[in-house]
Amino acid sequence: MSAGVTGSTSTTESDLLLYVAHLDVGYGDTQVLWDVGMEVRRGEVVAMVGANGAGKSTLLTALSGLLPAWGGQVTFEGQDIARARAEHIAALGLIHVPQGRRLFAGLTVEDNLRLGAYTRRAGTERGIHEDLDRVYALFPKLRERRKQVAGLMSGGEQQMCAIGRGLMGRPALLLIDELSLGLAPIVVDDILAALDTIQKREQLSVLLVEQDVQIALERAHRGYVIENGRIVIQGSANELLHSPAVRAAYLGE
Ligand SMILES: Nc1ncnc2c1ncn2[C@@H]1O[C@H](COP(=O)(O)OP(=O)(O)OP(=O)(O)O)[C@@H](O)[C@H]1O
Ligand SMILES: [Mg+2]
Repeated sequence: MSAGVTGSTSTTESDLLLYVAHLDVGYGDTQVLWDVGMEVRRGEVVAMVGANGAGKSTLLTALSGLLPAWGGQVTFEGQDIARARAEHIAALGLIHVPQGRRLFAGLTVEDNLRLGAYTRRAGTERGIHEDLDRVYALFPKLRERRKQVAGLMSGGEQQMCAIGRGLMGRPALLLIDELSLGLAPIVVDDILAALDTIQKREQLSVLLVEQDVQIALERAHRGYVIENGRIVIQGSANELLHSPAVRAAYLGE
């Protein structure tokens, strides 16, 4: 996830993995997202940053089909998914690693990982084995702890397990909500390094949602700032990191 790619790279249609336009979303009759527009290209790491309650998790939940869009357009791999079911969206390769990890605390690490493969239509036992090996190679701690119940693992190990579960779904785009929350910096670095390896090797796209603006923008190619449910700034990660508005609002300057 090296920085330095500018936001002005020309985009062909086949580069465009996720495209969102004029997206409105809410809960009950309370609107939370307003006219959101964004995109993720193939192999790109994109940061979505903003304060508590800005609507970051709501956006991811809507993209993965768990919350219906009120209006607007969402396409993934060229398919209209604005009103698609969550299972269908996951099977297409848009996989959500939710805020708070949401593991099954009483199940083993390996059973949690296996659950990530359920979206795969042709998930053979052999394929699942290969993917488990891939995840264990990336996060050796998970292999050591594979028979342990997930609820007894440390926060960092649980985050590895949640990301591993996401990878078991063979994502083209991984949506990761608050990777760093509650974790020690050294653990965050380890997890990001592993993610970086697989992102580059497999041309994986990642949408990194973070309250920690520095962490996200240092790893991303491009970024968006969301405030009160609206995208207010977008640009290359480098532009955002050096933007006085971003630095004043999110980096304590
Ligand atoms: N299930 C829900 N029902 C009703 N309102 C909700 C629900 N979930 C979130 N909200 C509201 O939607 C708004 C956006 O919340 P959201 O969780 O998307 O923000 P966020 O940017 O992810 O915040 P955080 O950084 O704290 O995770 C908030 O006002 C929140 O209270
Ligand atoms: Mg959130």
